[in-house]
Amino acid sequence: MKITKYVLPVAGLGTRFLPATKAIPKEMLTVVDKPLIQYIVEEAVEAGAEQIILVTHASKRALEDHFDKMPELERVLEEKGKQQLLEKVRSIIPEHVEVIAVRQPEPLGLGHAVLCAAPVVGDAPFAVMLPDVLIHNSPGCMAQLVELFETQGSSIIGVENVAREEVNKYGIVSLQPDEQGALQRMSGVVEKPTPEQAPSTLSVVGRYILTPKVMELLRETESGAGGEIQLTDAIATLITQEPVYAYTFKGSSYDCGHKMGFVQANLEYALRDPEISAELEQQIQRLAK
Ligand code: G1P
Repeated sequence: MKITKYVLPVAGLGTRFLPATKAIPKEMLTVVDKPLIQYIVEEAVEAGAEQIILVTHASKRALEDHFDKMPELERVLEEKGKQQLLEKVRSIIPEHVEVIAVRQPEPLGLGHAVLCAAPVVGDAPFAVMLPDVLIHNSPGCMAQLVELFETQGSSIIGVENVAREEVNKYGIVSLQPDEQGALQRMSGVVEKPTPEQAPSTLSVVGRYILTPKVMELLRETESGAGGEIQLTDAIATLITQEPVYAYTFKGSSYDCGHKMGFVQANLEYALRDPEISAELEQQIQRLAK
């Protein structure tokens, strides 16, 4: 079974990054020279996405525009002979991938946002990616999850270890006893527990492959942590009905929903960029003195 539909919830107002996000969507903030959303879409396309479903809000049209064709701009670049830039603009999204926008009419939580994509997702397993989190690896995190899904067919959630004092920022999973290796069967998941309540320090990182059953469960899920309809709560119910796996992916993650992670992503992606890495290293050495 192939995973072709990728749900990207992007309706949030990005209040953690005000004033930067007053007039532009937080997913359009750039890490070096690309907006966050483009990294996420590239990871989805690498994994086999054919439909990118943006669950969006009226104030965030720039996201749809970013993936739309812009003939005027292409013409200007062509006339000026700026071939490299033209390629960059044209390759934002491959021809065979469709970007679909659905609206989340009210900010009722991540679970509700995913449910808004149900009419497009239909009765097939699908992926959810949270654009706040960048993951650097080849193959990407989503491609790793897809490969596992193709062999075992159950829901899989990307996880990583965090410090115990950080658990209250994330969904935290618990595992069945005696599970070993990178792919482990889950026994539960809780949204943003306190360090004392957390069943482990394995955090949900924002990459999911889910069976369509989760849509049914979301319809019945009541508001939970923060007064919002949580995807985590629907997954906790799913675990009681089907096997659900946690997968410790390969790669480095950057939580760009928080200032520190965003700055770190910019620094590390810049250090990997051959155009500027040498000069940046010199600047860092100068600052460190
Ligand atoms: C969301 C999810 C949480 C997950 C996190 C990853 O929380 O609800 O389970 O661990 O993303 O970034 P948010 O960051 O939207 O508060």
